[in-house]
Amino acid sequence: MKRVVVTGAAGFIGWHVAHLLEASGLDVVRSDLVRPQPAEDVWKKADLLSLHDVMELTRGADAVCHLGGIGDVYTAGRDPQLALNVNACGTINVIEACKRNQIPRLVFASTWEVYGTPRYQPVDENHPCSPGHPYAVSKLAADLLVQHANIADGLTTTVLRLGTAYGPRIRSTAVLASFVRRAKAHEPIVINGTGNQFRPVISFREGVEDFIRNAKSELSPIADRKPAGPPSRQATYANPSAEGDLS
Ligand SMILES: NC(=O)c1ccc[n+]([C@@H]2O[C@H](COP(=O)([O-])OP(=O)(O)OC[C@H]3O[C@@H](n4cnc5c(N)ncnc54)[C@H](O)[C@@H]3O)[C@@H](O)[C@H]2O)c1
Repeated sequence: MKRVVVTGAAGFIGWHVAHLLEASGLDVVRSDLVRPQPAEDVWKKADLLSLHDVMELTRGADAVCHLGGIGDVYTAGRDPQLALNVNACGTINVIEACKRNQIPRLVFASTWEVYGTPRYQPVDENHPCSPGHPYAVSKLAADLLVQHANIADGLTTTVLRLGTAYGPRIRSTAVLASFVRRAKAHEPIVINGTGNQFRPVISFREGVEDFIRNAKSELSPIADRKPAGPPSRQATYANPSAEGDLS
């Protein structure tokens, strides 16, 4: 049975990715710094900042879905050094482990936020990247490192620039969770700033399905590998020949 490592498996999206990959018949190794809930889920503790941990975690894997990191923009705003360390340097460790352990496939959770304030809409993959927040800067660094590994290190990588996701297990501080909580309590919904902010919103299912499709597409023999299908919204397929990937 093919083995897929999911980092960030205790988190909002990683938890769903791990469960759906498992439901599709794969051997899934859940990993995080903290125990995924429910507690009976088998998992491996690994700190993305430790190359040793990530090497051990990924040994023998056929694919890695990398969703671990500082996903909370508020945490990243308070502690940009932590965000850059975990999101960028942690991703370097994942790339290095994939190289050394000869893992054919790496799928990375990037974000639409790497584009910054849109200069035109709908935002497409040729839109310039101009991140406006430490979180987005840290994600763009990781996004580019994963694309670079595709070119320089011969790994097969996919970068998914996910929209802002909603669904079960959403972080309570997320803006959509706050809107729903307030609406259910019949309280006014508070929108900070000018109200003109842009958010491409996706159901968690869309993001999860992108991971499943891309992780599984590369579990076939290399000669049979094809692109995983047309990109859904905000999905960037790392490809050295595609214009704008590294813009
Ligand atoms: N949720 C969204 O709307 C959204 C949108 C676009 C991109 N993303 C990206 O998708 C990924 C998952 O998002 P999420 O909302 O599930 O985030 P999350 O914060 O719920 O999950 C991230 C997980 O990473 C773990 N983690 C943090 N530091 C770690 C470390 N040093 N070592 C190992 N694990 C560590 C955390 O414990 C957490 O369980 C993130 O990389 C995020 O940037 C999320």
